Amino acid sequence: MNIETFPIRKVGPAKIKTPLDLRTPFVSDQAQVFYDREADGAKKEFQETGKIHAFEKAGPREKIFFDPNWCKAGILTAGGLCPGLNNVIKGITETLKKIYGVPVVYGIPYGYAGLNPELGYGPIMLDENTVDGIHEQGGTILGSSRGSQSTEAMLETLMRMDINMLFCIGGDGTLRAAHELAQEILKRELNISVIGIPKTIDNDICMIDKTFGFETAVHATNPMITVAHNEAKGAPNGIGLIHVMGRDSGFIAAYSSLANPHVNYCLVPEVKFSLEDGPDAFLPKLYDRLKRRHHAVIIVAEGAGQDLIQGERQKDASGNLLNNNIGMFLKDRIKEYFKRNNFEVNIKYFDPTYLIRGIAAEASDSVFCLLLAQNAVHAAMAGKTDMLVGHWSDTFTHVPIEMAIRERKKINPRGTLWRCVQMNIR
Ligand code: F6P
Repeated sequence: MNIETFPIRKVGPAKIKTPLDLRTPFVSDQAQVFYDREADGAKKEFQETGKIHAFEKAGPREKIFFDPNWCKAGILTAGGLCPGLNNVIKGITETLKKIYGVPVVYGIPYGYAGLNPELGYGPIMLDENTVDGIHEQGGTILGSSRGSQSTEAMLETLMRMDINMLFCIGGDGTLRAAHELAQEILKRELNISVIGIPKTIDNDICMIDKTFGFETAVHATNPMITVAHNEAKGAPNGIGLIHVMGRDSGFIAAYSSLANPHVNYCLVPEVKFSLEDGPDAFLPKLYDRLKRRHHAVIIVAEGAGQDLIQGERQKDASGNLLNNNIGMFLKDRIKEYFKRNNFEVNIKYFDPTYLIRGIAAEASDSVFCLLLAQNAVHAAMAGKTDMLVGHWSDTFTHVPIEMAIRERKKINPRGTLWRCVQMNIR
């Protein structure tokens, strides 16, 4: 069978014996994880192309490219916050220092801005002491920022500081910049490895099962749904309306609806809806439910229903279209609709967006963060570059950055997840 691995670039051949204990279950560069998880998909791919695609499997290599004793590493966090950032910083630092014996690990402040000398930020020295206990804190000890910096200026800083490996923890925009940097480094044949660790609370990065922090976000939304339900039941025709993050992808809203069946309506960016027009209009359906059950809970992702709101949409520093506030908009439209219909409702509005994003990771996310961090270090030490550490079919993988940033991962309105959400809500 012809199995083609998604190509992972290297800054050079791995010839040095790893300092890791020989009892370590080493992973060879030939170990693969199938891309098509269903036999039908694999068969179809094989019939059409004569090949089956696979990811390179992540893990410690027996031979590495960099001599750890001479290594200097840099870590940065960019884009919006996400639970688990500090866990990843701690995991990378400790794997570099304690497992490989790398002497110098720099924390780069405020994302790529920290690599621009004109902005005047100095590095933060990372070691076992500076990262002690940071996994218990939300946010990022390094600070983060949005927006681009000149590749040339960043590269000059990396060279000036003799950094051999750069770990970029971030979402779409961060990974795009990491890819440009890695490409330039490869073009100039420099020995600097660039490794991405995908981060977005929205879970919207392609070619990976989930991003860290997402589970914590769903976990933290759960009690809010219960509180919204209690408020809704505590008043005649009570409505609990919860606004959660999800710029282009509504995974937090969808999974939260599955986790807590008090949700009666789940609105996501991927599924258009109308307020009053057409057979499936949202407000008449809500009216029917209130007449029947006298209470309702609605969860809405921030990117849902943007076409219903008048007004310009600005862009953020990373070039993402900013959403107008669909939560407040819906609240006003619901009030106005029921007033017009002479039907008393009591609406309570909850906006836990930033309250959830800045919290510390819960336990299973913390495990995930640590394993991502360890695998990122193994990849960097082996001289891999222009790749991110992914997770696919319960296995850690190497994913070319360019593939992961081609498009955003979204809910398929005809897929299993959305069907399950629809079956679970009434
Ligand atoms: O990182 C993704 C995200 O949390 C989106 O859900 C949200 O739209 C955006 O970031 C908010 O970003 P900012 O931190 O710039 O307000």
